Amino acid sequence: MKAMEEKIRKEGTVLPGGILKVGSFLNQQIDTEFLKEIGDEIARLFEKEEITKIMTIESSGIAIAAAAGMSMGLPVIFAKKHKASNVDGEILSTKIHSFTHGNDYEAVVSRDYLKEGDRVLLVDDFLASGNALDGLMDLAELAGAEVAGAAVAIEKKFQGGGDKLRVRNVRVEPLACIEKMTDTEIIFTDNKR
Ligand code: G4P
Repeated sequence: MKAMEEKIRKEGTVLPGGILKVGSFLNQQIDTEFLKEIGDEIARLFEKEEITKIMTIESSGIAIAAAAGMSMGLPVIFAKKHKASNVDGEILSTKIHSFTHGNDYEAVVSRDYLKEGDRVLLVDDFLASGNALDGLMDLAELAGAEVAGAAVAIEKKFQGGGDKLRVRNVRVEPLACIEKMTDTEIIFTDNKR
């Protein structure tokens, strides 16, 4: 999606440790016009996949997943990062390691919202080492749901998470795919394989 690359070039800044800051449109402030375009593009990419539900993880994935859900006319489930008091009934849970933050956390969803027979599209803002999407795949598997693919706003290909999923035959669609970034330049690639 050329518009995502242009937005990153215009508004993104590279921080030490291979972190791309996109606070002006995705992580701290949301550009709602652009969010709509993101939702429509995800819907276009996955229109033939007979998806029944969209799944993400709190917090930054939720806006993008909701935009995709609105474009596709589908409900959105979001995994919570701890067992909150408002999650009751039978829960599905998995442990996720955050490479960026260097900690482990529990991701949970209620079995009421994720079921055998669901065909799920995973959505997130960043795909870095892939642990968050891997955790969502675990939750889908625990529910007996099928994963149709993953749509992410930005893949940092140099961290390897996307390719780890692709070798497992998961269809991974980044709207922008970063091959390399330095203080002074961001290099995108169309070669998602
Ligand atoms: P992974 O899921 O691909 O393995 O990535 P990792 O655990 O390393 O990412 C941890 C968090 O950092 C995630 O958000 C992820 O979206 C975010 N992240 C990773 N790389 C970047 C980056 O280059 N720029 C920005 N802005 N964020 C990045 P989180 O901690 O779960 O937070 P949130 O979703 O609640 O915001």
